[in-house]
Amino acid sequence: MSLDEDPMLTSTEESLVRMMWDEVFSSWLNIALVAAIFFLIYKILSPTKEPRPAEPERDLPPLKKQDMDLKQLREYDGSDNGGKGRVCVAVNGKIFDVTRGRRFYGPGGPYSGFAGRDASRGLATFSVEPVSDDYDDLSDLKPSELEQVKEWELQFNEKYDYVGRLLKPGEIKGSYSDDESDISEVDHDKKD
Ligand code: HEM
Repeated sequence: MSLDEDPMLTSTEESLVRMMWDEVFSSWLNIALVAAIFFLIYKILSPTKEPRPAEPERDLPPLKKQDMDLKQLREYDGSDNGGKGRVCVAVNGKIFDVTRGRRFYGPGGPYSGFAGRDASRGLATFSVEPVSDDYDDLSDLKPSELEQVKEWELQFNEKYDYVGRLLKPGEIKGSYSDDESDISEVDHDKKD
């Protein structure tokens, strides 16, 4: 049935719906964005086909505070390999244990492309595509995108446990004592 024939719509509603309809279908980019929105809503709301692992975050002890390079971070992609189902994500040079958010970042989740990786560029550019395997210094990002990354870092810091720094190639690991309870409050940029 066309919009003209729908008896339920008043003329104001009809012109509003028509406007939105025309707007959405005015360009391929809009159509692609609408498709992406529906896809992500579907991925977030649909139950995963894989059997859900028995709440791994409850069984896993807190991850020892440590700095990691990209290769080590990759182990924590939520699979049962080295990381034993744990998921870590780096944002703005900080690594967070996001195992609590497994339904987002774990296998089959809408943001699984970030698992075991540096999500900064994806978060800055609003893209959920898997990010590059190479170290990314983000130097080409616009100031507004870098601001976006910082905002995400704050959100991750609020919600998840901080693990350590993401090491640049050739950078040396810091040492953390076993009783360091929340190293996220330490100023890592401080040079001493
Ligand atoms: C296009 C449509 C999108 C929809 C409808 C959508 C929907 C949502 C919803 C409903 C949540 C909150 C879930 C909750 O707390 O229970 C969420 C969280 C999130 N979204 Fe999206 N999203 C979309 C696109 C994106 C894109 C493109 C990115 C990539 C930058 C993204 C990254 C995230 C992240 C990182 C979280 C936080 C998950 C957490 O709490 O750890 N989203 N999204």
